[in-house]
Amino acid sequence: MPDHIIRVNIETHTPGLGDQFADILRSIDGMLIQPRGDTHRPDLLIYEMGEDIESDFQTIDSLLESNTVGDVILTAATMDSVMLLQAMKTGVKEFFSQPVNEEEVRESIERFRERLRQTRGREGVKTGRIINVMGSKGGVGTTSVAVNLAASMAQGESAPSVVLVDLNLLYGEVPLFLSFNPTYDWGTLTKNIARLDATYLTNVLAAPVHGVHILPAPSQMNGYELPNPEVLEHLLGFMRGLFDYIIIDAGQSFNDLSLKSVEISDHILLVSVLSLPCLANTNKLFRSLSDMGYLPRGRIKVIINRYLKNSDITLKDAEDSISEPVFWTVPNDYRTSMAAINQGVPLRAISADAPISKSLMGMAAELAAGDEGDAEKKKKKGWWPFSKK
Ligand SMILES: Nc1ncnc2c1ncn2[C@@H]1O[C@H](COP(=O)(O)OP(=O)(O)O)[C@@H](O)[C@H]1O
Ligand SMILES: [Mg+2]
Repeated sequence: MPDHIIRVNIETHTPGLGDQFADILRSIDGMLIQPRGDTHRPDLLIYEMGEDIESDFQTIDSLLESNTVGDVILTAATMDSVMLLQAMKTGVKEFFSQPVNEEEVRESIERFRERLRQTRGREGVKTGRIINVMGSKGGVGTTSVAVNLAASMAQGESAPSVVLVDLNLLYGEVPLFLSFNPTYDWGTLTKNIARLDATYLTNVLAAPVHGVHILPAPSQMNGYELPNPEVLEHLLGFMRGLFDYIIIDAGQSFNDLSLKSVEISDHILLVSVLSLPCLANTNKLFRSLSDMGYLPRGRIKVIINRYLKNSDITLKDAEDSISEPVFWTVPNDYRTSMAAINQGVPLRAISADAPISKSLMGMAAELAAGDEGDAEKKKKKGWWPFSKK
């Protein structure tokens, strides 16, 4: 039994060759041949060399470099030693000679599968975690949590690379929260999705602010088509290969885009406060996502923001009403919170010792430790899980 589906793109121009490869691949377990236009990242690209060999090698080099494809197998009507040498320099490890020999293809795919297994099991290839911060209501602190979680994550001892994506259409506030003057936004990226590679993305994202790369929301929709969920999936999938953490401020929207981001996220943080309307919304959101098949349980974590120990509604009341445990509480601190927003800095830049700042640091540490599957690690790192429920 194959342990993973292998997504394959076939790009050939000799008539009938693509179908021939497709027929052979379909007879091998676990292979998924992607139709043209499918934006999922292929694990494998079967590429036929054309007339302009230099340009072909440049294309392959950029696809591999940007991690847009996992691996490339080449085929050509005639292969000479110069082409083979150039291919090996580019990082191509396998070739199919023409006419295609079925047995050769099978053996080559098995070798590829083995390489993939080893790569997936090895450290070093980034497989960034997506953390989606959603609000159960406007004004509960979704942006505050997303921004400060990202800034806290970036403080981790291993200096993880962090990108904060503002998914709020039109009303994205992340740049204001971090005094950031954007020249690009994800509208630009999704419009130019075909050009997406590591160099392009690095240019677009510019320098990190308080350790965090920022991808703001479009501030006006003129000239942009709304990106479709598949394009968003491609963009976030691509970012996984470049960043350790991708934090999304998903706001309060419940549309195709936010559902797609929920589907592919590793953690969904549902921000709520201890008020009846908010808890009722949290309940509805949980049930809806659950009915739509978006849970495994544990992936959605409830955060109670603006927590006051002596509030009328207790944490126990909240947990009873939503039938879920509360993952984290962030204390109420209007003064520090407003000062941070007004000065456009993370909470810790106002007061690193304030309980609200420590709480966000603790939440980041807890999530990071969970991802590493090593609860001891966070203690060694000296992070303080301040408000762990
Ligand atoms: N833990 C907190 N304590 C006190 N005030 C908070 C806290 N978190 C957020 N706020 C305040 O709530 C308001 C809304 O926050 P914001 O992050 O913009 O929410 P949302 O993104 O959900 O609309 C801001 O004025 C902010 O200062
Ligand atoms: Mg907001």
